[in-house]
Amino acid sequence: MTVPILNASGCLDALTAAEVAQTLDVFVTKTVTPLPREGNPPPRIAETELGMLNSIGLQNPGIEAFLADTLPRLARLGVPLWVSVGGFSVQDYAQLCTLLSGREEVTTIELNLSCPNVDEAPETAAEIVAAAREATPKTLYAKLSPATWDIAETARAVADAGADGLSLVNTIRGLALAPTTLEPTLERGAGGYSGPALRPIALACVYACATAVDLPIVGMGGVSSGRHAVALVAAGASAVALGTVLFAEPFAARRVRVEMTEAAVALGYPSAAALRGKAHKSATFANLSAL
Ligand SMILES: Cc1cc2nc3c(=O)[nH]c(=O)nc-3n(C[C@H](O)[C@H](O)[C@H](O)COP(=O)(O)O)c2cc1C
Repeated sequence: MTVPILNASGCLDALTAAEVAQTLDVFVTKTVTPLPREGNPPPRIAETELGMLNSIGLQNPGIEAFLADTLPRLARLGVPLWVSVGGFSVQDYAQLCTLLSGREEVTTIELNLSCPNVDEAPETAAEIVAAAREATPKTLYAKLSPATWDIAETARAVADAGADGLSLVNTIRGLALAPTTLEPTLERGAGGYSGPALRPIALACVYACATAVDLPIVGMGGVSSGRHAVALVAAGASAVALGTVLFAEPFAARRVRVEMTEAAVALGYPSAAALRGKAHKSATFANLSAL
């Protein structure tokens, strides 16, 4: 049994980097919304000491162009496809799921319930998942924000509403100021913070949700080595996703895959998968390969 490696949504353009996408076990698209979005004005990416800030704002061609043009091209990559969807109302998510239902190229729909770069507040996560569940028989993953008082409670609510898995976590809101002007480096002001600083936050979220619900979890947040990936697996993840690292090292999945096994063997386990849940003293994890 292996621990699948995915890309984190929005961190890889598979159409311009097909060979990179083919190093992954699953390709996850950038979040698609009902209508096309230009995203936020630049600058919308900034580096910080311990990670990256972005305020892309869900730039995407909209579902119509995605279905007509992007999806058939992605399908030719030969990698299982997850489509990330986002919207501003329960109806938006339901509509997107209905439209994707008929497309056999799509194995899973990831509901982005957590983008920090759009102004409109989504309705509650559970309502969205329930509407999506009614709209599609496809596998549904709920992608949650780490910026919540009790993520385990949200996890239980989306599990009850019919989610098949969790993607943990999205970015957390952060701000950087230019040293000379002391004005925000991103045109929009604050943005989504990703990369190394997110690691302990992601670990805490995966750890909390793994015992709260009996669902497979894709862990992400600052993973750039096999040791980081193995830690998420020990916390309860059954797969890991690479995000910010891909901007500096597009082929990181190959290295992380090898390092994960090396890290597990060094700890006396036959594989990274065998480590799942080890961070928990008394939990059992049955769903390892349930992606
Ligand atoms: C430039 C950029 C764009 C992103 N776009 C999306 C997106 O469209 N949908 C989404 O669910 N997450 C998006 N994310 C969040 C990532 O999927 C991931 O949850 C987050 O970056 C944490 O992982 P990392 O620290 O490995 O990057 C984006 C992140 C970055 C850095």
